[in-house]
Amino acid sequence: MCGSNVFSRVLWLFLCRAIASCSPLTADRQANITSMLEQQADRVMALGEWEERWQQNKIGFHQPEVHKMLKKNIDKVLNGRTGVRFFFPLCGKAVDMKWLADMGHSVVGVEISEKAIRQFFEENNMTYSEEPVPAIPGAKVYKNSEKNISLYQCNLYNFSK
Ligand SMILES: C[S@@+](CC[C@H](N)C(=O)[O-])C[C@H]1O[C@@H](n2cnc3c(N)ncnc32)[C@H](O)[C@@H]1O
Repeated sequence: MCGSNVFSRVLWLFLCRAIASCSPLTADRQANITSMLEQQADRVMALGEWEERWQQNKIGFHQPEVHKMLKKNIDKVLNGRTGVRFFFPLCGKAVDMKWLADMGHSVVGVEISEKAIRQFFEENNMTYSEEPVPAIPGAKVYKNSEKNISLYQCNLYNFSK
């Protein structure tokens, strides 16, 4: 198994456990959900499948609110720093990015779906520019300079600093 698949599986398992542990469920239900999600951890979604989800608006994974753990722990994360640069791999149209940018931080995201990126800016009433990224064939970067948000449309595994 290649490194990227291992990374995806670990990330997916971590997310599954986090989701399962967030809701106030009975122990039985929680065990049941964890077991169902762990089975899915063996499945790696191809990029085309993600794109299909965005095109068909099957985006149940999108959270319309800022993640409560981020809100709760933001002071610890910042530790008094201002103008921090936050990296959002697999960013989708996460509202957390706008929340951090509104606080004066800068955001760099990576997302394969152009539709997700456009929706992020449009749903947050932000103008944006788009330009190719010569260092990454086929990639584009979408930027709102006022809020200092740059979202790269490319495969995360082709992305480097
Ligand atoms: C679980 S969703 C995260 C959604 C995001 N938190 C939100 O609120 O919209 C994962 C996202 O990663 C994107 N994605 C999956 N694999 C990718 C890859 N290899 N490179 C870039 N983006 C990827 C998908 O299109 C999807 O939007």
